[in-house]
Order: sequence, then structure tokens, then C-alpha cells
Amino acid sequence: MNKVASFAKSRSPDRLIVVSNRLPVVFEKNKNTDVWSSKTGSGGLVSALMPVLRDRGGIWVGWPGMRDNEGPLTPCLEKLSEDVGYGLVGVYLSEPEIKGFYEGFSNQIIWPLFHDLPVDCHFRPEYWETYRAVNRKFIDKVAAIRQAGDLIWVHDYHLIGVAAGLRRLGLTNRIGFFLHIPFPPPDLFLKLPWRADILSGMLEYDLIGFQTLRDCRNFQRCLRALYKVRVEGQGQVQRLQATPLSGEAAHGRGQSLRVGSFPISIDFAHYEKLAMSKAAIEKVSRLRQTHGDRKMILSVDRLDYTKGLLHKLRAFRLALERYPDLRETCFLSLHVDPSRENIPEYQRQRVQLEQLTSEINGAWSRPGWIPIHYYYHSLTPTELIAYYRRADVMLITALKDGMNLVAKEYCACHPGNDGILLLSEFAGAAAELQKGALLINPFDREGTAQRIHEAMTMDHSSIAAGMRRLRRQIRRHDIYHWVNSYLQAIAGRNLEDFPKIQDYVPGPPPETQVRRSRIVAPTGESV
Ligand code: UDP
Ligand code: G6P
Repeated sequence: MNKVASFAKSRSPDRLIVVSNRLPVVFEKNKNTDVWSSKTGSGGLVSALMPVLRDRGGIWVGWPGMRDNEGPLTPCLEKLSEDVGYGLVGVYLSEPEIKGFYEGFSNQIIWPLFHDLPVDCHFRPEYWETYRAVNRKFIDKVAAIRQAGDLIWVHDYHLIGVAAGLRRLGLTNRIGFFLHIPFPPPDLFLKLPWRADILSGMLEYDLIGFQTLRDCRNFQRCLRALYKVRVEGQGQVQRLQATPLSGEAAHGRGQSLRVGSFPISIDFAHYEKLAMSKAAIEKVSRLRQTHGDRKMILSVDRLDYTKGLLHKLRAFRLALERYPDLRETCFLSLHVDPSRENIPEYQRQRVQLEQLTSEINGAWSRPGWIPIHYYYHSLTPTELIAYYRRADVMLITALKDGMNLVAKEYCACHPGNDGILLLSEFAGAAAELQKGALLINPFDREGTAQRIHEAMTMDHSSIAAGMRRLRRQIRRHDIYHWVNSYLQAIAGRNLEDFPKIQDYVPGPPPETQVRRSRIVAPTGESV
């Protein structure tokens, strides 16, 4: 038994094997010195799973982000495993595999399609072939390290085919899947030329977890296009019996599995503690010295066209046009985390974003005031927490998002209940945070500008009431709650024992969903 496997076994009798495209660490080689360095992998999947593995122990199988077949870095990963407290096992990808599997099928087909953007999809058959080949690579790696009794938990859209491959090898372990991104409705999903293979692959899991009820329902609606489906249960977790209809799914097998919605979350207590630490408080006060009393509207996203960055800037510009009281009294602190930089759509997005930022700053800056402070960088956790705590408003404009952990992290960092969350209706987080956040439709520029102004002029008691509500919700439904409910569902807990889960349907909210806020006019009167 290798070092990693024995290490993970010492933590728990039933081992947890997490399988995802990304490991929590990315290795990079300096081209001039040939020296390797490592940093934390980006995105919500890594942020969410790190505390789970730290808490429970286990093994994490994934790609260490290197662009060539320069591995294996086994000794480095073994050393890191000791440091982090769980096993790290690398799957190494060649340049053509990265192009076809990661940049191709995963991020130029599934990612845009599942985020409602079929026009951005490049449906190339060779991407599908490479996707299947790389899934086989992961399958072989998992088959080599797994033991009877292990729970294998596969994450996200890169690796949908892993369970089918493991079943073909005869494995009888429990295998779960969690989709971190949205699942699209049938009119989008059915455009996928490989729709039957993707669905039959998903049916090989014992449990599929989705972020929201919306995604879970969409999956069932898509399944009904190719399968006869019988559903048992009405709550958070359901059992499906799927039998292929004649036609393109006919080669699939009849399957029985569980599906459910499990909104992913954060280690609330950890964020709260860090936000109250001496280091964070010092950083916050340094930020305050730099910015003075001006209100900070914060934006933190990976550079991704699904995050609505251009929509955000246009709405902010409109807010400056419409509401003179915002000029010189607030600024947008815009942090853009580099992501998927080899994909042309991402490169175009960066050009457009930088052009628009400079247009707005060119038109609106005044001596001593710049409306948008733009940073193209990855923030470290400490820096990020200081920004969260310093910001008066968090502005999230995702056009579609599986969850959006930034929204939850921001709230955890406001122990004084002194922040406002402006949250897109199209982020998965809207389902849980609809009461307490100010919801926006980022496609509605006028409405978003109005909401920005509303946030800037809201009174303290309304702010505190909203933030208190948000924090209560996130504290109760933190990452440990998420992992426990998923593991109980895969372990066979009764369907009736799972609570009902909140849904969110965009549109004019019923009266009960409207956040009551008093807007204070510049004269000090309530309006
Ligand atoms: N993040 C970070 N540094 C940055 C920007 C983001 O560590 O400069 C983290 C952030 O704390 C969050 C994750 O990246 O945990 C982003 O997750 P989210 O669900 O909001 O979006 P995703 O990137 O997964 O689409
Ligand atoms: C989203 C996906 C993750 C992915 C992350 C960062 O959160 O759901 O699977 O890891 O974005 O993207 P990247 O392409 O850098 O892994």
C-alpha cells in the first residue's frame, strides 16, 4: 500500500475517495529556473471540499493543474498530504488531453451549455473522444487505489463518466456524484449531441446531488425525454426508477438511483473567526485609511462570462448617471481572478471588461476619486476576508451560477451585521438567501442600478435585519451540514426524513419575499 493510501486509511474505517478534475493544489514550473511552485486551486469546488477532507480525512484524486506530462510529482504530493491531513493522488494530463478534455469538452461544451449559452458551444466530436479517454484515466486511477467499502464521491461536469467505467470493471462500491454547476432545462440540454451517453452515465451513480431544486427538476425533465421515469418521494431526496424508451437511449440500462438537492456551503465558523482576527482587522483598517469614508461596493469573481461582469459595469455606470449622490461617495472594488486563460471566450471577455472599465473611469473620474478600482489577480484568503469585511455592499451579478460561494463568504465575514448582499436571482444561492439579500436581475440594467442606489441609502436597522437573517441561514446550513446530508442520503436514510428545501423562481416576488427596507432620502426623511 502506498503512503497516501495508508495515510488516509488511518483516519476512518470507511474511506472517502473524492474524485474531481482539480486537486486543491496547482503546480507550476518556472520556465527559466525549472523550479516547481504550488498554489491553491481556484474556484468554489476547491474552496468547498478542502474543509470536508480536512475534517473527515480521505483521499482526493485529481489533476494538479500542470500543462504537460511533466509528472509524476508523487513525492511532492505525498509531502503535501502529510501537511494537509488527507491523501492527494495526481492524475496527469498531456497537452492534447488538456485541450480536448478540459478546455474543449468540459469548458467549451458543457460549461456554456449548462449555463444557458448554447451559442458559445463548440460541439466537436474530437472533444468528446478526449473527454471519454481522460475519464478512463481517472477510472483506472480510482480502480487502482480503491478498497472494498470505500465511498467514491465524484465531483462536477468533467468526470460524469467515472461511475459507468468503474461499474464496467465490476466495482460494487457506493459511488456518488455532485454537480457543482446548474443542470439545464430540456430545450438546452437536448441540443447536446452526446445527450444519451451523458444521461446513461449519470444513471450509474447511487446518488446524484444537485445544487438546487431547479437543477434536480431539470435533470428529471431531461431524463423523461429518453426514459420512462418513476419517482418515489417528494422531499429533498427522491428515488428514481428509469427505464429506457426505444430510440437513442435503448442501449442504456434500466436503473434505480437517488437524486436530491444539496446546496453547497462554506465553513462559516472558520470565515467568521478569520474575519475577527487581529490580522484581518489590521488589514481592514489599512483599507479604510486608503479609501477614507467612501462606501465600497465589492465584486469578486473568476474571469468568466457567466459572472455577468459586463452587466455589472454597465449597471454601475447607469447608477452613476442616474444618481448624482453616488458620485465621489462610493467606488466599485473590482477583483477579477484569472481563469481558463487559454480559451478564446475568456480572452475576449478580459479585453471587453478592461475596455469598459477604462471607458467608465475615463468618463467619470474626478481629481481624488476613481469610480472603479480594477485588479486582475487572485486574492489570498486573508486579503479576501479583509475586503469582505471592509465592503459595505457585495455585488453579485451572475447570469447563471451553480451556487456562488462568494455570496456566503461575504455574509460570514460580517459579524456586526453591517453589510448588504446584492445577489443575482440566477445564482443558486438565491434560493436560500432570497430573504435577507437584495435580489437583482442582472439583465435589467435599470433595475440593478436602482438596487445599487437603494443599497447605498439603506438605513442601519434594515441592513442589520437583512444580514442577521442571511448569517443565520448560512450558519445553520454550513459545509458540514452539506456533507452530512449528502452522506446520509447515499447511506440510505429514509426519504421522508429529509426536510423540504426552498426553491426560488425568478419573477415578481410574492409580498412575503420582499425585503422591507426603509430608504432614506438625502434630507434624512424616510421615503
Ligand atoms: N476566490 C479566491 N481568490 C480570489 C477569488 C475567489 O480564493 O481572488 C475563491 C472564493 O473565496 C470562493 C471561490 O474562489 O471560495 C469562488 O467560488 P464561487 O462559488 O463564488 O464561484 P466559482 O469560481 O466556483 O464559479
Ligand atoms: C467552478 C467549477 C469547478 C472548477 C472551478 C474553477 O467552480 O464548478 O469544477 O474547478 O469553477 O475552474 P477551473 O477551470 O479553474 O477548475
